[in-house]
Amino acid sequence: MTDALSPATLLALDEAFERDATRGGFARSGTIAVIGDDALATAVLERFNASVRLFDEHTPVDVAAPAGCERQGLVAELVTEVTLVIGELPQTLAGVDEIAGLAARFADPDVLVVLAAREKDLERGMNDRLRASFVEVSASRGRGKARALIASGPRPVPSPAYPRSELVSGLEFPIAAHGAVFAGTRLDIGTRALLDVLGDELDSAVLPERPTVVDLGCGTGILAVWAARHLADARVIATDRSWSAVSSTSRTAELAGVADRVETVHTDAGEGIPDRSVDVVLLNPPFHDGRAVIDDMAQPLFRAAGRMLRSGGTLLTVYNSHLRHRGALERTVGPTSQVSRTPKFTVTRSIAR
Ligand SMILES: C[S@@+](CC[C@H](N)C(=O)[O-])C[C@H]1O[C@@H](n2cnc3c(N)ncnc32)[C@H](O)[C@@H]1O
Repeated sequence: MTDALSPATLLALDEAFERDATRGGFARSGTIAVIGDDALATAVLERFNASVRLFDEHTPVDVAAPAGCERQGLVAELVTEVTLVIGELPQTLAGVDEIAGLAARFADPDVLVVLAAREKDLERGMNDRLRASFVEVSASRGRGKARALIASGPRPVPSPAYPRSELVSGLEFPIAAHGAVFAGTRLDIGTRALLDVLGDELDSAVLPERPTVVDLGCGTGILAVWAARHLADARVIATDRSWSAVSSTSRTAELAGVADRVETVHTDAGEGIPDRSVDVVLLNPPFHDGRAVIDDMAQPLFRAAGRMLRSGGTLLTVYNSHLRHRGALERTVGPTSQVSRTPKFTVTRSIAR
């Protein structure tokens, strides 16, 4: 089963096993928290013969987990009383901070946290984030271009809990964010470019009395919540493939007082939203996956928008002007015109065929 593991997760597994053995195999009789995927959870089950709780950012918690393993969100129940946390280091400093704080707060006081990444994805600040919640922090030797960071000795007052929320200039409601979510508690300038035209666009669109609006790739839910506040009769669906995004959006909607009209769905590319059922889609598509810039990450979301919009429905998209998505939007969704453009960001309106 370890063939399915990346060099980083295999290193985390080996380091955790060796270090746990030197303290007498403490973790083997208990529960281990895994930050990763089914392959890592299965490898941990095989190696330790313990029970496993798994947090997988990209798999909804109601999807069946490997036998002996329970899926959890990034919540207290993931780490309560565990003696070992094994997994991948998140790619953001705040993501590392969140996991460290959670483990320090709720895990067994003798917990050992072993998180690894490719060396090129490691940042010095990650040690500091671990140190904010743990007294002992060290790094393993490098292996296969990967390295693990190891933390133990939870601090009595760890780093403050997530999601954190902040009121930012230009928005009338606070943004709530888990550590790994896009832009954190900031208002991204692309999102702002779409908000600048959103009121006029929604007011001039031909909408039914109770329109359905989808925020596709919702991040912290700014677009969904803004639309719910602007269209008092709309049903808004906010969806993302990241647990941290969906959970952040629920909290943003709650803080803005629109939780009853913003439904959050953890799914890939809006899967499960029926074909031709939506009046408006709001889209600020990704152009990088972690640190890798991937030009065509937006394509599945364009296809999803084309699938879920009713004929005549509107897709509003914001993207970096150099990406020139307009041709793809024309082909995948329908006639597309420019709503605004700066050297940095373009907003387009596509009308579904
Ligand atoms: C640029 S961020 C925009 C977030 C938010 N809409 C905003 O404007 O602040 C793109 C979001 O799309 C999500 N995403 C990327 N690929 C996705 C996919 N295939 N299905 C659903 N969400 C996806 C990412 O997790 C991220 O939250």
